[in-house]
Amino acid sequence: MIIKPLTRGFICLTAHPTGCEKNVQNQIEYIKSKGSIEGPKKVLVIGASTGFGLASRITSAFGSDASTIGVFFEKAPRERKPASPGWYNSAAFEKFANEEGLYAKSINGDAFSNEIKQQTIDMIKEDLGQIDMLVYSLASPVRTDPATGTRHKSVLKPIGDVYKNKTVDFHTGNVSDISIDPCNDEDIANTVKVMGGEDWQLWIDALKEADVLSEGFTTMAYSYIGPELTEPVYRKGTIGKAKEDLEKTAKTIDADLSAIKGHAYVSVNKALVTQASSAIPVIPLYISLLYKTMKEEGIHEGCIEQIQRLYADKLFVDQVQLDEEGRLRVDDWEMRDDVQAKVTELWKEATTETLPAIGDLNGYKTDFFNLFGFEVEGVDYEADVNEVVNIPSIN
Ligand code: NAD
Ligand code: NA
Repeated sequence: MIIKPLTRGFICLTAHPTGCEKNVQNQIEYIKSKGSIEGPKKVLVIGASTGFGLASRITSAFGSDASTIGVFFEKAPRERKPASPGWYNSAAFEKFANEEGLYAKSINGDAFSNEIKQQTIDMIKEDLGQIDMLVYSLASPVRTDPATGTRHKSVLKPIGDVYKNKTVDFHTGNVSDISIDPCNDEDIANTVKVMGGEDWQLWIDALKEADVLSEGFTTMAYSYIGPELTEPVYRKGTIGKAKEDLEKTAKTIDADLSAIKGHAYVSVNKALVTQASSAIPVIPLYISLLYKTMKEEGIHEGCIEQIQRLYADKLFVDQVQLDEEGRLRVDDWEMRDDVQAKVTELWKEATTETLPAIGDLNGYKTDFFNLFGFEVEGVDYEADVNEVVNIPSIN
């Protein structure tokens, strides 16, 4: 079929297999161009099909020749009904990994569930024996707690006060004022349940119990801080509470792993266009001004550049590079004083009329469509493609 983007607000309902494959191939080529990394060889990635998790899987496999198991929650394709992008990405990843003789298997299902944890443990035991790294890169709006059966929903809201600022509709370029009402107490608890550290801890407990963690095992999850400008909706909002919990969990897990000389880290990453971040008000306007500024400075990065730098310069080096709170920081360039001063200045000037010149709205839009395999250079979108693509280890 011929597949075109079909957008509904901040989501795209279709994805393009050839475009997704090309994205994965470009990321693999980038990693190969940067040379090898002395990283772990048996790696489990939770949330492995898109964004930072996919970049982590690619960096481990093609940077360190690692065997990888990827867990994700994606929609399989049907006749005339394209898959979700993470499905096509994973199909492409496995194809390229297999071509190079790299072990790669995937599990598609709810990572929050006991069943998927058990299935993953069985696969590790059967194929790898033990793992030496777990990357935890889940981003989900909902989680069913396996202990209670309760389905929790996360929200993106300020805490305490109404937040008023401006935002952009990146499809139209229209800059408008917004006002977001504060959350209630349940919203905070629910958001922490979904995006906090509890499930990461459950994974580690289950893997440890099953004795599938090797000596010197490393685990890492991803966080975000961002500038003062976005604090009310991000770091000091409901999602920020979840990130604080995730960062606290890293310390608990780190202590739990001492018997096997293991370590747990949180890496604070840069703001990037993903399915998750497009849905947060204010963030798209911030990102479009940030992209413009960082591109002008020659320091713009996407997920793959971020994770490559994280592995090669911060984590798998003689002395792990941590901030005073014990976190890895690849948001260091985003948070540079000169970058933030520039973005703050542009923020004041941003209107529907000025944004095309002072912001990188086109970069935002291109990145958004790229997430779904659209607007990728070198892809013929008029060509008839087979929408039913298999993931080798699943079908
Ligand atoms: P993403 O939406 O691209 O990736 C989410 C992944 O989680 C996908 O692989 C998806 O299949 C998987 N997933 C979702 N629900 C699942 C479930 N129930 N079971 C199994 N898999 C499931 O998101 P991302 O932006 O790469 O985010 C990953 C992490 O990085 C998050 O913790 C996020 O907060 C953090 N982060 C993101 C940014 C940003 O700007 N995007 C910045 C810093 C940190
Ligand atoms: Na991810």
